[in-house]
Parts: sequence; C-alpha cells; structure tokens
Amino acid sequence: MSSSGLIVLLSGPNLNLLGDREPAIYGPETMADHVATANAAAIKLGFELEHFQTNHEGELVEAVQGARGRAVAIIINAGALTHTSWSLHDALAAFEGVVVELHLSNPASREPFRHTSVVAPVADGCIAGFGGLGYSLAVEATHRLLMARSGS
Ligand code: DQA
Repeated sequence: MSSSGLIVLLSGPNLNLLGDREPAIYGPETMADHVATANAAAIKLGFELEHFQTNHEGELVEAVQGARGRAVAIIINAGALTHTSWSLHDALAAFEGVVVELHLSNPASREPFRHTSVVAPVADGCIAGFGGLGYSLAVEATHRLLMARSGS
C-alpha cells in the first residue's frame, strides 16, 4: 500500500559538513547522499520529499512553520539545536502532521549534553544510531504512522 503527500526533511546546523565532519561519528556520506536515500525511499512509497538545511535556528523554525498545511510529515535532524531550541520545540508542536526525530549517531550514548532532546516531546518517534540507514528508516516509519492514523 502506498502513501501520498509531501514529507519535509529538515537538517540543522553543521549537517552541511557531513562527509567531512567527524566521519568516525557521522559516517562518510554527505548530506546529498542522505537526501538521495530519503528521496528514493519516499518515491518508492508514493511520497514527495523536500529537503532544507540551515545553520540558523530562526530559518529552521520558519521551515517548520512553512510545512504547516502543506506537508503530511516532517523528518527532522536538528543537529545540536535538538538539545537547546525551545523555539523549534514550539514550532513543531504547532505542526499537525507526523514528526519523526532523526539522528545519525545515538545521542543517548554520547556526552551528557546530548541526552536531552527538546524535539522528543513533540515528536511521534525517534530514529537514532543507525547512520545513513536512518534516512530510509525515517521515511518508512512516517509511512507506517500515516497508515496507522488513516486506519489502513
Ligand atoms: C546529530 C546529533 C547531535 O547531538 C549533534 O549535535 C549533531 C548531529 C546526529 O545526527 O547524530 O549535529 O543530530
């Protein structure tokens, strides 16, 4: 069974450096590689996917606001804003669709400051620690959640 609608994939600070940035933690793939993975998974399941990366908190908030009324789901890897941004938390709380929190690494097994997520309370679920595989898992999880919500 396939879904339909738009998934907005959002990437926060420093994720533009993937491939170059701490590859032992975040892997060798670039942001473009992850977007291609997510896009392929989305197309297979009948979704459209739009990606936006920014290093600026306000731009990320505006991107969440821009998804309202337009997208069925947001998949978000907010980078370090995951641990600090209450404005991002509030913007996500005002989004009516599915929210999937995504991380390449497993923040729970890293430094203490990464153990708190302000995204988690307003997310339907979280995929973390699976590296690049997380991007297709997040699309699959979105699909399953939307199917469950529609009773299919
Ligand atoms: C990250 C984890 C965050 O703690 C970190 O600040 C990032 C990347 C991840 O994908 O593992 O920038 O979100």
